[in-house]
Amino acid sequence: MEAIAIQPREMTCHTILYAAHDAFRRDVDRLAAAAAAGKGRASHVRAGWENFKDLFRVHHDLEERVLWPRVERAVAGRRAELAALAEVRAEHAGIEPLIGRVDAAMDDGGDLRPAVADLRAALEMLLRHKETGALTLAESVLADEEWRAFAAEAGRSCETRTPQFVPWVVDGIAPIQRSRFLTALPAPVRELNRVMWEPHYRKRRLWSV
Ligand SMILES: [Fe+2]
Repeated sequence: MEAIAIQPREMTCHTILYAAHDAFRRDVDRLAAAAAAGKGRASHVRAGWENFKDLFRVHHDLEERVLWPRVERAVAGRRAELAALAEVRAEHAGIEPLIGRVDAAMDDGGDLRPAVADLRAALEMLLRHKETGALTLAESVLADEEWRAFAAEAGRSCETRTPQFVPWVVDGIAPIQRSRFLTALPAPVRELNRVMWEPHYRKRRLWSV
């Protein structure tokens, strides 16, 4: 099947970035719940964890490569803003070793809970800093054409992940948020999600124990 890009508009960019953050939080909460129940290594939990890692890396690669450099150019010479961006980038770099600790705990058969708790805390700090700092800054300094360029690049970079990404974002979210996210997408993407992507996603039974 030919890959379909989301190709979001400016407001859609924000909706998609924030919705992804909530989906990351949801997944790590699910992992924490499974670990607390002694089911952290169940096959569908591991599949959910692998899916989380894949989409986390795609999302952050896009921010690191395409979004933050645009914001940095827009705030060139403004030390406080550049420092806030550098802080977010450093926090992001700090997540990978914590993901590695969860992987190691999965493999060595020990208690998953401490590694998952540390990941959850660091992830929350990173996402909050992005939402209250770096993304707010991006919204205030990037012109419409910059958002369009970001959206085009995001569409090109992530089009093969769109069938995986859309149903993952709306997995388990409240009806009003689901509707807000889906209506931000182009109608053909929404329809593909309804007839193909979401049914396929449900069959994967990610996180079920
Ligand atoms: Fe993000």
